[in-house]
Amino acid sequence: MKIALYDHAKLYREHREEIDIAIARVLESGQFIWGQEVPAFEKEFANWVGARHAVSVGSGTAALTTALRALGIGPGDEVITVANTDLAGSAAIRAAGASVVWVDIDPETRCIDTAACEAAITPRTRALLPVDLYGHPADVIEMRRIADRHGLALVEDACIALGAEIDGRRVGSLADVTCFSFAPGKHLGAYGAAGACTTQDAALAERIRKLMSDGQARVRRYGPKSNVVGQHHEMEGYNQQMDEMQAAILRAKLPHLDETLAVRRAQADRYTERLAGLADLPAEKTGYRHAWRNYVIELDRRDALAAHLFTQGIGCNGLYSPPLHLQPVYSGLGYVLGSLPRTERSGSRLLGLPLGPHLSLHQIDMVAEEVRAGLS
Ligand SMILES: Cc1ncc(COP(=O)(O)O)c(C=O)c1O
Repeated sequence: MKIALYDHAKLYREHREEIDIAIARVLESGQFIWGQEVPAFEKEFANWVGARHAVSVGSGTAALTTALRALGIGPGDEVITVANTDLAGSAAIRAAGASVVWVDIDPETRCIDTAACEAAITPRTRALLPVDLYGHPADVIEMRRIADRHGLALVEDACIALGAEIDGRRVGSLADVTCFSFAPGKHLGAYGAAGACTTQDAALAERIRKLMSDGQARVRRYGPKSNVVGQHHEMEGYNQQMDEMQAAILRAKLPHLDETLAVRRAQADRYTERLAGLADLPAEKTGYRHAWRNYVIELDRRDALAAHLFTQGIGCNGLYSPPLHLQPVYSGLGYVLGSLPRTERSGSRLLGLPLGPHLSLHQIDMVAEEVRAGLS
């Protein structure tokens, strides 16, 4: 690919010294789990996001799964979310034993339609799970109001929206739990799978922490600095903690996050300027700050344009399409083509263009030129 969607090796080379120091620090310590890097990262990350507590976990998927379980979501419950997203949220709902209820989207932001969400609430509804699509926050303020009105938990999937803001406040402190992913291609990319939950609630943070370490409180882990001789499992859980290596790498990268968010914004602005009139372009609603994980356009001739870009050596992707309710795995849940018309229309027309700190503005211009050529 001439212009790829990702180039992790290039980004490593740009910060090689700091990353190598972080990795060596962990290797020299001999402490690959249960060390000091994870708690230090959690403090630094919570501080950056503006949340009281951050709990690191093994992936964004683990963040969602653990958050729902920590909130007590289980069999017989319903959780309302959207279908134009990663499998992780819906799979987490079902892994908890609950039922997934998909509702349609606001076509402008492609996030959950708050009116459709409230209309879908039943006596069995226990939680709402909005997703900040492509980096634009869902209307979490209104979702909070709806959740409070109906006594429901609110879990925000911000796996692709780190750094996004609503009314000047970074996502991460508005929902009961906000879930983040540090998969390599995300805003803050680890060198493997990693994620985090943030919350304002200390007891909830502690429950998540225990759940993701096989039901054990972190401080009770036995070892030379502890008086605990054996295990102390207070509940069943998962082995889903972040490892020390990923935490050290993320600590080295976190100080550069603001800088990379600014690069993403400049690239998105450039696309918006160059692509005006060629396709439906992504919007940033007043009061919101988009984190620009993806620049996703919509157009009728999506497949032809994607084919053109591929032949020109330009990476592009159709995330997340087809939507989950039309995926084979969920064919038995009663949703059909036509169940979520706005979600389906977006899914059939969307195309993600390359964007990220591995690219230059000149390369963004080249992509924009090829989009123009492909549509002429
Ligand atoms: C919106 C969304 N939620 C959740 C996830 C899952 O995150 P992870 O890959 O870290 O498990 C992803 C991954 O891309 C995502 O895009």
